[in-house]
Amino acid sequence: MTKKKLNALKVPIKFAQTAKLFLKENNLLQTGFEQFAKNGFFYLPLVSNSISLNIPFEHKITSTSFQITDKQKAQSLKNLLSKKFSPQNLSLLHSSYDLIGDIAIVSIPPKLKSKSKTIANSLIKSNSRVKVVVQKSKFEGQFRIRGIKVLAGENRTTAIHKENGCVFYLDLNKVYFSSRLSFERNRICQLVKNDENVMVIFAGVGPFAIEIAKHLKSLKQRCQVLAIEWNPDACNYLLKNIKANKVEEFVQVHSVDANIFLKDKKYFKWADRVIMPLLHQSLDFIPVALNVCKKNSIIHAYAVIDGHDESGLVKTSNEIVKIGLKNKRNLKVISSRYCGAYSAKTNQASFDILVLD
Ligand SMILES: C[S@@+](CC[C@H](N)C(=O)[O-])C[C@H]1O[C@@H](n2cnc3c(N)ncnc32)[C@H](O)[C@@H]1O
Repeated sequence: MTKKKLNALKVPIKFAQTAKLFLKENNLLQTGFEQFAKNGFFYLPLVSNSISLNIPFEHKITSTSFQITDKQKAQSLKNLLSKKFSPQNLSLLHSSYDLIGDIAIVSIPPKLKSKSKTIANSLIKSNSRVKVVVQKSKFEGQFRIRGIKVLAGENRTTAIHKENGCVFYLDLNKVYFSSRLSFERNRICQLVKNDENVMVIFAGVGPFAIEIAKHLKSLKQRCQVLAIEWNPDACNYLLKNIKANKVEEFVQVHSVDANIFLKDKKYFKWADRVIMPLLHQSLDFIPVALNVCKKNSIIHAYAVIDGHDESGLVKTSNEIVKIGLKNKRNLKVISSRYCGAYSAKTNQASFDILVLD
């Protein structure tokens, strides 16, 4: 069998890259099949039968035949393990994983724990881009670090990750990084206008701050970005990444607790845009972030929500408006969307909030 009929996302060719990033971010892109262009449209294979997410660009869900890639035929993880694993164990195996630089982060089902090393070694054989395989673990502590264990390949947790035309140096055991927000970062970059003052609170190794700066620089425009981060290791990587992406004149790093920084009168009413990518706490930070917001500025806040239906977005949007009223500021949520899975049952969501006064 060289072809298979699958559900597909059909988009105008100009949205091909955007759609690819969006599907990857939401773990909806089926790998191992050739994506193709036909009559002005681009077709991407989908992993699931239905998409209940809001897709923020022109598209149609259709059904079409996709060519199976040669590499996929010879090297799929399941194919490589088919002689070693029983059909029951094979069906438990997750074939998708996050890739940060050349490090694959895999989730091993509890029933296959004793076979972790075999799975990890086969994964390295199945994808030439993978040089290290680590076991997925929870983000923990004030710096949101994973505590990752290497299962196979080179014994390291450092990586060089490329995203949206930028390069990021990082160590998965010293800093937070997730590749799942790449579409979201790209979306925000397109919103920033010439000469804006942008504050990225919870900056990590700099993906939001650096991608915005590099995007504006590529348009021959300007912006001033302040990146706030309290993990010293993340700040060191942030400084290295600013240099590596040649945006020194746009981005300034403040290695400090955001709670203290946002109370510094020097920055009151400084920002045209505030980005707060701290999933579990960004709503708690809205009151203090309002100090730095100009009239008509925008806050991009993130949250974790059970499920992925419209009611979750509406409920959190209402909470945001109430937080504004409590702090004597008039807030309006101008857009909200789900932006990737957080766990099996929860999803990440983003809220674009207009600070009316
Ligand atoms: C979820 S990560 C986001 C990192 C980055 N923006 C990204 O998208 O990769 C949150 C970051 O906020 C930092 N952080 C958490 N609380 C903070 C605080 N009160 N002040 C400054 N940084 C903080 C953590 O150290 C961590 O690097």
